[in-house]
Amino acid sequence: TTRFATIDPQLFTDEALQPFARMLAAGKTVAFPTETVYGLGADATNPRALAAIFEAKGRPSDNPLIVHVAAPEDIEPLVKTVTPLARKLMAHFWPGPLTIILEKSPAVPDMVTAGLDTVALRMPAHPLARRLIALAGVPVAAPSANQSGRPSPTRGSHVVKDLEGRVDAIIDGGPCEVGLESTVVDATGSFPVILRPGGVTREMLLMVVDHVAVDAALVKKDFGGGESVTAPRSPGMKYTHYAPKAPLILARSSRPAETTTEAAHVLITLALRHQKAEAVMGILCTDETAAILAEMPETAKLPLVVKSLGSVHHPEEMAANLFLRLREFDETPASLIITEALSDNALGFALMNRLVKAAGNQWEEA
Ligand code: TXA
Ligand code: MG
Repeated sequence: TTRFATIDPQLFTDEALQPFARMLAAGKTVAFPTETVYGLGADATNPRALAAIFEAKGRPSDNPLIVHVAAPEDIEPLVKTVTPLARKLMAHFWPGPLTIILEKSPAVPDMVTAGLDTVALRMPAHPLARRLIALAGVPVAAPSANQSGRPSPTRGSHVVKDLEGRVDAIIDGGPCEVGLESTVVDATGSFPVILRPGGVTREMLLMVVDHVAVDAALVKKDFGGGESVTAPRSPGMKYTHYAPKAPLILARSSRPAETTTEAAHVLITLALRHQKAEAVMGILCTDETAAILAEMPETAKLPLVVKSLGSVHHPEEMAANLFLRLREFDETPASLIITEALSDNALGFALMNRLVKAAGNQWEEA
């Protein structure tokens, strides 16, 4: 059975965390909140504990894990060298939603890195997560605490739904602030290469370095990325991700996403096209587009479930809501989710990356 606790992420005591820290040190699996998404943690130096993570999630063994530390100096035994670039990124963005890839030391088991000679490292900003890792006294490997392929968990209840009975403990520490997983950058060279976009945007990285490259896997023809392109290197990129129960398609608009009347028109056109018999259509869009949809006569005639990510003017709000909304659709009768495409600059790059994956890169025009 899974041990469960609700712990206030601001007002917790060491006494409340100790039992879970001891479980981690003893090779058990413990799910805990971070500022990005919930993680499923285990001792990164213990192969049996690591095997339990892959088993609980149903995760393919060739997808490497991120190692979480409580302080920057804790990475030293885990890496071959800390590059000047890594030092700079850590100084600016740690603690926070930035994962740094460096060459690994022999202390890191192959199961963490899926046989790669690099290791992914992150120091979370979430106070409960950091204190838990410090008390455990070991580096903590932690993938997102969802069943492999499902939307990442941003609430304790999401973890319970996906992993109850499959892990040793779950700590519910309330909603995750960022709501999207960390930005993953390769920092082995002289400039960062973004392997997965996230809360630390390319624009933010460019405030501290002169050049940022984007992995080729992120720059599809449908979906522009950064300026430089390299060969795909993040193993996680090839798997199905973030899938709600109903299939999701992205509505391609001929005009910019800012013209919300156009976006609403495209969404309704696609809903009418796909609506058969009694089927309920889902629509995922911005507040602004939802407001226009509500005024359209077609909306009243269709069995629709409209959910909003938030205001187009508050991308952080949309990011924080994304996985929650995808999971909420599972509780509705919607058999297809038609999704508004968002602007892909700054945080929009990470948002669209997750939506494109959730849709399996299925786009449709009106
Ligand atoms: O925000 C986050 O990063 C969350 C929280 C819990 O910290 N964790 C998370 O872990 O998202 P996970 O396992 O769901 O995603 C890790 C990603 C995968 O895409 C994986 O392929 C990539 O990081 N990764 C891990 N090690 C790597 C390496 N050595 N080289 C390239 N990519 C790596
Ligand atoms: Mg994940």
